[in-house]
Amino acid sequence: MKQVGICGIGAAAPKKVLSNFDLERMVDTSDEWIVTRTGIRERRVLEKDEGILGYVVEAAEIARKQSGIAPEQIDFVISSTLSPDRVSPAQAFEVARELQANQAFCFDLNAACSGLMYGLATAESFLKTREIKYGLVTAGEQVSRFLDYNDRSTCILFGDGAAALMLTNDNPEHVILATELGANPNMSEEVVIGGVRHLLNNQPGDYYFRQNGKSVFRFAVSKIKELYETIPEKAGVRPEQIKYLIPHQANIRIIDAAAKEIASAGTEVIANVDRYGNTSSASIGLALHEVWGRFQKGDLILMVGFGAGLSWGGALIQW
Ligand code: COA
Repeated sequence: MKQVGICGIGAAAPKKVLSNFDLERMVDTSDEWIVTRTGIRERRVLEKDEGILGYVVEAAEIARKQSGIAPEQIDFVISSTLSPDRVSPAQAFEVARELQANQAFCFDLNAACSGLMYGLATAESFLKTREIKYGLVTAGEQVSRFLDYNDRSTCILFGDGAAALMLTNDNPEHVILATELGANPNMSEEVVIGGVRHLLNNQPGDYYFRQNGKSVFRFAVSKIKELYETIPEKAGVRPEQIKYLIPHQANIRIIDAAAKEIASAGTEVIANVDRYGNTSSASIGLALHEVWGRFQKGDLILMVGFGAGLSWGGALIQW
């Protein structure tokens, strides 16, 4: 069976910073409450007249250049997004057009905050089973468009951003050792966002992001802990051998609680939620991109996503 791995990474985020102090002027909140409850200090958000596509393309182009391959060598583009500029054409077609990846097949994938992990695992399967060599997976989100900036319990949580991974089965240096995907659809009402249902029931507020924060919190902590055990086991390694754990960046308390339960001295847990907030499926990619330069040959890196669906997914990479 062919080995599949990462050969390029990119990330991009809007320039505009929305700080907790800015939010203090918009809703009844405080920097202190937000930092204590979430760990978020600021997030990037799109300007009113911007779309997310430009940032997805920027991240994808950085990943492509790093991989050293030409646009026409890209065999497919999978774009993870729950918040594209347009529903159709799917974001992946627009990314391919901008990159001039004219040989690629394209589609979007929506597994909410687990989306990059779903995209990675899907790409791995294609590259293992089809006569192709290179696949691009992007994750680009603008959840700020789905926030009610009068609702202090939700508008503080999210930011916008994009990330991209180039994958290959052609002697990859950074190999995927194992992936895992899962869902609990019985918890699908715990996190809801967007769509047209608010038009059907004439409830404009239904358009905005809503969640059962406490139940998602518990779910997230237990899932990170579970995947930290099950994914290494699939690859025949022990959890303590994981050098870096990169969880979805939703809340520093989720990350800290999971880190405490794991309590493995050898594993460093990566967080950048303080500067980006929750960027949904882009978050693991943004964090991976930030620490990319620190990895040493042989390091084991575990990425773990969770979110609406409820969904989860993870991937173990050997550097
Ligand atoms: N500023 C000030 N007060 C706020 C506030 C804000 N921005 N948001 C909520 N509050 C208030 C609430 O009104 C409530 O007041 P009350 O006790 O008088 O009713 C109080 O703070 C506690 O709110 P609560 O919702 O219980 O806080 P929490 O500790 O559960 O934290 C989350 C809320 C959303 C930060 C937390 O539940 C969470 O992160 N959950 C996981 C969510 C997640 O990861 N979702 C993404 C899915 S990928």
